[in-house]
Amino acid sequence: MSTLMAPLQGLGLGLGATAASNLAVFIPLLLTAIAYYQYELIDPEARPINTETDELLESYDFIVVGAGSAGAVVASRLSEIENWNVLLLEAGGDETEISDVPLMAAYLQLSQLDWKYKTEPQKDACLAMQGERCNWPRGKVMGGSSVLNYMLYVRGNKKDYDIWEGMGNPGWGSRDALYYFKKSEDNQNPYLARTLYHGEGGYLTVSEAPYHTPLAKSFIEGGKQMGYMNRDINGEYQTGFMVAQGTIRRGSRCSTSKAFLRPVRLRKNLHIAMNAHVTRVLIDPTTKVAFGVEFIRDRMVHRIRANKEVILSAGAVNSPQILMLSGVGPKEDLINLKIPLIQNLRVGHNLQDHIGLGGLTFMCNQPVSITLSRIYSVSSVMDYAILGGGPLTIMGGVEGLAFVNTKYANASDDFPDIEFHFISGSTNSDGGAQLKKAHGLKEAFYKVIFDPINSKDVWSVIPVLLRPRSRGVIKLRSRNPLDYPLIYPNYFSDDFDMKTLIEGVKIGVALSTTPAFKKYGSQMVVFPQCMHHEMYSDAYWECMIRHYSVTIYHPIGTCKMGPYWDEEAVVDPQLRVYGIKGLRVIDASIMPTMVSGNTNAPVIMVGEKGADLIKEFWLNSIHSSRRRRRKGSGI
Ligand SMILES: Cc1cc2nc3c(=O)[nH]c(=O)nc-3n(C[C@H](O)[C@H](O)[C@H](O)COP(=O)(O)OP(=O)(O)OC[C@H]3O[C@@H](n4cnc5c(N)ncnc54)[C@H](O)[C@@H]3O)c2cc1C
Ligand SMILES: *[C@@H]1O[C@H](CO)[C@@H](O)[C@H](O)[C@H]1NC(C)=O
Repeated sequence: MSTLMAPLQGLGLGLGATAASNLAVFIPLLLTAIAYYQYELIDPEARPINTETDELLESYDFIVVGAGSAGAVVASRLSEIENWNVLLLEAGGDETEISDVPLMAAYLQLSQLDWKYKTEPQKDACLAMQGERCNWPRGKVMGGSSVLNYMLYVRGNKKDYDIWEGMGNPGWGSRDALYYFKKSEDNQNPYLARTLYHGEGGYLTVSEAPYHTPLAKSFIEGGKQMGYMNRDINGEYQTGFMVAQGTIRRGSRCSTSKAFLRPVRLRKNLHIAMNAHVTRVLIDPTTKVAFGVEFIRDRMVHRIRANKEVILSAGAVNSPQILMLSGVGPKEDLINLKIPLIQNLRVGHNLQDHIGLGGLTFMCNQPVSITLSRIYSVSSVMDYAILGGGPLTIMGGVEGLAFVNTKYANASDDFPDIEFHFISGSTNSDGGAQLKKAHGLKEAFYKVIFDPINSKDVWSVIPVLLRPRSRGVIKLRSRNPLDYPLIYPNYFSDDFDMKTLIEGVKIGVALSTTPAFKKYGSQMVVFPQCMHHEMYSDAYWECMIRHYSVTIYHPIGTCKMGPYWDEEAVVDPQLRVYGIKGLRVIDASIMPTMVSGNTNAPVIMVGEKGADLIKEFWLNSIHSSRRRRRKGSGI
């Protein structure tokens, strides 16, 4: 039992006094129940093996940096080739029992599984957050951000990928993307699995949460009453409402580490080193060949050589950071920091993120929502531990997703500009225990809006701007690899973003007036901070958005993929870093433009495709494009 309690202490949850007594009872109860009832379930999927430093080789064919959404896929696929050996380096440790519980997603933030990044102070956004800085959680654990995320399985719009291809990235169109989405997938919904758009038998389990509140049904009904279809938003068309599908397996989180690494844990040619923090890629300044990596483990600096390639899969914050520390980045910045310049590239630029309005909350006059007081009970723990069911399987509280059109989108084009995340609760639902901290809200802000309705029944919707025009940048703070980089998202620096999101908020408010939601009352909670504007005016919505701006945690674009004539491009369409041999980036940072949906499934797709590009390059570089096309058309 004592080892099982370790992750609890590791979580280091800083909780408010009242809620702490609840959680302090609840979490040990949950852990005990999981240990007792799920022992046999966990065993066949035993954890990845952590290779000790003195057992590591001096060189590997491939070194993959970061075991996140993309890195876990890349390492798994490359080690399918028996005569290649692969080293996967991950800064964090392994997942915990708590990180498996879908409803607990937000409770992992600010724990030791999180890098705990914050943006630099914003002037147009995050005004309700401490220091006007938005929290930017990122997974520091096997599975990376797929362990912190809300598990929502969303692929984006077909046009997103056709746009990438149209920008000069052959092989990245919607047909290619669909091939790789299906390759990973094991969809548990027999109705969806039969369609042309889904796969079965892949590593990644996709399913609905086994349990729903009555509000999930209202969401679908409300959507229909507004004229939207209830449909598979990952299928032929995207516009519409759907009960969320997620990366969950038997009611528990299915991270990419669980999906792609646990089944191959006994492969002799794959070494995984946890708690290994990569500080730079070793690049020969004259030949410009990447020949290895340097990392810190157990307070010692180590170097390991790569015979074929180094692959950065450290995510949209850390991959650009590592490149710049290695001498690959914007010339002026590196010179200022006295880092010897090896290749001048626009690393860190082109940063894009999904931003939405938090706290758009509606009161419920019946006990149908998720509240901490009701959920933290022996029966919900037993439902989860024994049956893999019950309210603890709801993905971070999100039950429904919708893609809708503002007046700025062409409604007959199936290219919606707003996504709704429907939550059967809101920031107040845990009585101020953790959610307000996860969002970094100022005490005074929470007190005025949410204290009066602490733990009361509510629902909320987060409208999200799908294709932001604003661009941010990530820069090095210093040449110390352990210093956090500077994050400037520049939310709403393009005015059109605010205009579009305001229209999205109006559609969210309209949803609350449908009969499906009126039957629960659904009166909107006001922001007193914005009452100097006329209620329901654009200025009022704008004030709400500027205060409670929430990232949906989808930073991308900081090592942009593009053709050689694109001055912003950092990697080519084969994901090779321009000007450097033996170095690729494969993760969220290569996306040239934002996808119209949550980013986890698209990043896994990038990992699958990236691994195939490497195999094609080293195994048979001739005829590869023809073969790829043939595969793509077989779907
Ligand atoms: C709170 C949260 C909720 C989200 N919800 C959803 C959702 O519901 N649905 C969805 O589709 N997407 C969601 N996302 C986004 C999605 O999870 C990410 O886009 C995706 O995981 C990014 O994958 P990646 O491989 O680029 O980076 P990551 O998964 O972040 O992987 C990077 C890995 O590299 C490691 N690393 C970094 N630096 C170093 C270093 N120097 N040395 C060694 N290792 C290093 C990290 O520890 C990490 O394991 C969410 C993200 C967060 C944080
Ligand atoms: C809207 O989209 C439809 C379908 O793609 C297209 O035929 C039409 O021209 C578009 N309208 C405008 C105003 O762009």
